[in-house]
Amino acid sequence: MKKLLAALLFVGIGGLHAQENIEIEKKVTALLNQMTLEEKIGQMNQYNGFWNVTGPSPKSGNAAFKYNNLASGRVGSMLNIRGAKEVRKVQEIAVEESRLGIPLIIGFDLIHGYKTVSPIPLAETASWDLAAIERSAALGAREAAAAGINWTFAPMVDITRDARWGRVMEGAGEDPYLGSLVAAARVRGFQGDDLSDPFTIAACAKHFAAYGFAEAGRDYNTVDIGLNTLHNIVLPPFKAAADAGVRTFMNSFNDLNGIPATADRYLQRDILKGNWQFDGFVVSDWGSLREMIDHGYAKDRKHAGELALNGGSDMDMESYIYLEYIQSLLAEGKVTQEQIDDAVRRILRVKFELGLFDDPYRYCDESREKSVTGSKEIIDAALDMAKKSIVLLKNDNQILPLKKQGQKIALIGPLADDKNSPLGNWRIAADNGTAISVLEGMQAYKGNTLVHEQGVRLVDKIPAGFHEEVAINNTDNSGIAAAVAAAQNADIVVMALGEYGFQSGEGRSRAHLDLPGFQQELLEAVYAVNKNIVLVVMSGRPLILNWADAHLPAIVEAWQLGTQAGNAIAQVLYGDYNPSGKLPMSFPRAVGQLPLYYNHKSTGRPGADGEDAGSVFWSHYGDEKNSPLYPFGYGLSYTQFTYSDIRLSSNSLKKGGQLIAEVDVTNSGSLTGKEVVQLYLKDHYASATRPVRELKGFELIELKAGETQTVRFTIDEQLLAFYNAAGQWTAEAGDFSLFIGTDATTKRQVNFVLE
Ligand code: GLC
Repeated sequence: MKKLLAALLFVGIGGLHAQENIEIEKKVTALLNQMTLEEKIGQMNQYNGFWNVTGPSPKSGNAAFKYNNLASGRVGSMLNIRGAKEVRKVQEIAVEESRLGIPLIIGFDLIHGYKTVSPIPLAETASWDLAAIERSAALGAREAAAAGINWTFAPMVDITRDARWGRVMEGAGEDPYLGSLVAAARVRGFQGDDLSDPFTIAACAKHFAAYGFAEAGRDYNTVDIGLNTLHNIVLPPFKAAADAGVRTFMNSFNDLNGIPATADRYLQRDILKGNWQFDGFVVSDWGSLREMIDHGYAKDRKHAGELALNGGSDMDMESYIYLEYIQSLLAEGKVTQEQIDDAVRRILRVKFELGLFDDPYRYCDESREKSVTGSKEIIDAALDMAKKSIVLLKNDNQILPLKKQGQKIALIGPLADDKNSPLGNWRIAADNGTAISVLEGMQAYKGNTLVHEQGVRLVDKIPAGFHEEVAINNTDNSGIAAAVAAAQNADIVVMALGEYGFQSGEGRSRAHLDLPGFQQELLEAVYAVNKNIVLVVMSGRPLILNWADAHLPAIVEAWQLGTQAGNAIAQVLYGDYNPSGKLPMSFPRAVGQLPLYYNHKSTGRPGADGEDAGSVFWSHYGDEKNSPLYPFGYGLSYTQFTYSDIRLSSNSLKKGGQLIAEVDVTNSGSLTGKEVVQLYLKDHYASATRPVRELKGFELIELKAGETQTVRFTIDEQLLAFYNAAGQWTAEAGDFSLFIGTDATTKRQVNFVLE
């Protein structure tokens, strides 16, 4: 009976949505039929506000107010305007003064929290806790919606394998399976199950596509990859976001195989709007229409407008090209009325879904903004997410967790009292200096003696903000002596080292991934007098930690954890939270290994298990190992877990059938802890070469000391499917291996055949 009721309810809700959609389509069509060509083109035009610049902006004034564009209905959207009061101002002009009163959709980069900043997305992914990730997005949306924003340019779902790229901090790392689940979780978090709810906002899957494959990890650089990589690695998270109901896409700055994504028909019209039947809209990235001239793809601005609309870009962010040229391009037959109407229909559809026509000021309630911003619920969730994002990389002799009484602890490093860097690069709504520092977090533990020394300054001056280059201090190491003195008298040293907050993010690629500035010198000077060092790495990306790994007893990757960073780090160091994070990206031994990723191809000369000293004729470096320092999926706990052998229901999987693989996982340590049990599959041969293994399942479990849990995975053809040499998404019969373990290097294996 219950099942029948559930089914009826499901059909009912589905039917409700379908009915709502029909109503919305009628309203869209009715409005479209009233609009002049100029008003239609106005909807395709997005301007930046007057506060934040997240890209190269016009030198003077604000285009939205020039030539009376807003009041004339020539602006469909604005970005970087925030605050219920400020948004109401521009919304009133658009709604009260223009002929048809079409509300603006207000976009903003809510990447990881709004005023209350959560961990950077790469860090959140390290939690492998999809429910927590979804909740983090939902609470970020809550705070942003209260500030007038109804559209976020997130989730960024770009897969990347190159830690030199500054934007690795913004995504979910190197794996498409994990990246797909995180993408869907973030879309659900931002959009909820009712876009008209004034606490939910439209999400945006970006950057479509392959931006994370920029050559040499240099931001905005060219991308040249084959269809195999595009379909098997790059596109799955975008498809997952589309399947989760994301309402907008943003295209990317890069050219893909010679075609700038902004004008890429194959991506935007054939795949996204064609095969995937996506009915939301595509916004360009900042100025990317104009940049097709620099790409050497458009002759001039007008030509860029023609290419972009024909290629499937519906809204022009900050190029001012659609507004200026679409009318003449239409008159010259270079673009069609159908293309214009389709773009405008998509934009209006999302505005109706957001309920903006019912009440254009539904996001502009100043009293709501005051009560929601910085609420205890949001701050507590930021702390919870931060603790779950921390990855324990090394813990020899159980030096961690720290004792809570009677210890003399020296806290050393330029990031120890830094209240800005933990906010990361995309903190544009947060106030400076609002992160809890490591020092403040550790000062909350009163049972020990805590001394603090900066040791060295990381930057020569605090960057003015988002767009300014960071000047690393390479001249003044005078503070090292005081730090060494503090370390000399301490029982244990905690060192907070890593990257300045603005060293990762957009436009922040790095060719060297060592500890910047004098930090390595500081570390080795302290080590010379006290070897009991716990290194807390605070970074927006994997760094090269070879020396630390070879010398130090304990290392923690603490990323950029947002507003509650210091509390989260202290609670993990003191054992009030048992670290459970697992790496979403491989940590290299050398920059020369990049791009580096676990799901690599075998090659024709893989060597014996990757280390073959027999001759030089195998795929390797003469001066470095092939393996990462720390692999994908790796992370330790303060307790230990043991795995039974895998039990497989059969060694043969029939088409249409299923296999069950299970293991018993035991917490063989003395503390309750969490483990991410990971399932990897290997397709031994196929019509196109396949990775040596691929993540195809995981389960985050929590076990008390001594407790055992059976973890079960179901394997079917869908899990084995891939984009094959014939361009089909299908599973191919043949031999497979299945691995289950604690990270991507697990050797716990069974084999089966797909008939
Ligand atoms: C930036 C970024 C994009 C962001 C947009 C608006 O250049 O590439 O991710 O959403 O501009 O700020």
